[in-house]
Amino acid sequence: MQKIREAIRAKYVEVARSPMGRFLYPIGREGAQKLGYDKSILDRAPEQLLQSFCGVGNPFSLGRIAPGQRVLDFGCGAGFDLFVAGNAAGPGGLVCGIDLTEDMAARATDNLRQTGLTNWEIRQVDAEDIPYGNDFFDVVISNGVINLSPGKRQCFAEIYRVLKPGGKLHFADLILEKDLPPHLTGSPEAWSQ
Ligand SMILES: C[S@@+](CC[C@H](N)C(=O)[O-])C[C@H]1O[C@@H](n2cnc3c(N)ncnc32)[C@H](O)[C@@H]1O
Repeated sequence: MQKIREAIRAKYVEVARSPMGRFLYPIGREGAQKLGYDKSILDRAPEQLLQSFCGVGNPFSLGRIAPGQRVLDFGCGAGFDLFVAGNAAGPGGLVCGIDLTEDMAARATDNLRQTGLTNWEIRQVDAEDIPYGNDFFDVVISNGVINLSPGKRQCFAEIYRVLKPGGKLHFADLILEKDLPPHLTGSPEAWSQ
C-alpha cells in the first residue's frame, strides 16, 4: 500500500506543475468545457486555476450545492472543483479540500488565493483518514480520486462518517470493466496512469 501511495504522490507532484500530456482524460479549460461545467463559472475562473484542472467527470452534474452548505472535496487536486463548490456555497458556506500530495495542496492554496473567495480551507492529508468530525458536511464531491486509493472501503467509510445524516456524495470516477493483465496488476505505477 505504501508503494502505491508513493507512486501516486510522485505522479501528482509532476501534475501539480502541469497536467499537460500526462493524462488521457480531460484537462484544462477544454476538458472542463467537454465535461459540461457551467460556462459562467469557466469565465470567472482565473486562467492558472482552470489550466490545472484534471478530472474524469463533472460531480456538479449530479446535484446542486446550495448557499450556506459545507462541502468536502475529497482529493481536491489544484482546486478547480473547490472553486466551483465555493461559488455555489457562497460566503455563508464552507468548502474544504484535502489532498495526499503536498505540491497539489500548495498549488490549490495558491490558486484559491487568486479567486477572491474566502470560504475555503485546504489540508494536505491522506483522504483515507479525513481530518474532520462526524456529521460535518452536507455534500462530499470527488473527481477521479477514489480509483487511485488502495483503501477504497476505508474511503467510503470515512466519507459516510463525515457526512451529515441525509448528506450527499457526488463523485465521478474510473472503473475497471475487465481484469487487468498481470504486468499491470503488480505495478504500483499503474495505479496512477
Ligand atoms: C484527478 S486529480 C483531482 C482533480 C481535481 N478535482 C480538480 O479540480 O482538478 C486527483 C487527486 O487525487 C489526489 N489523491 C490521490 N490519492 C489520494 C488520497 N489517498 N488521499 C487524498 N488525495 C489523493 C492526488 O494527489 C490528485 O491531486
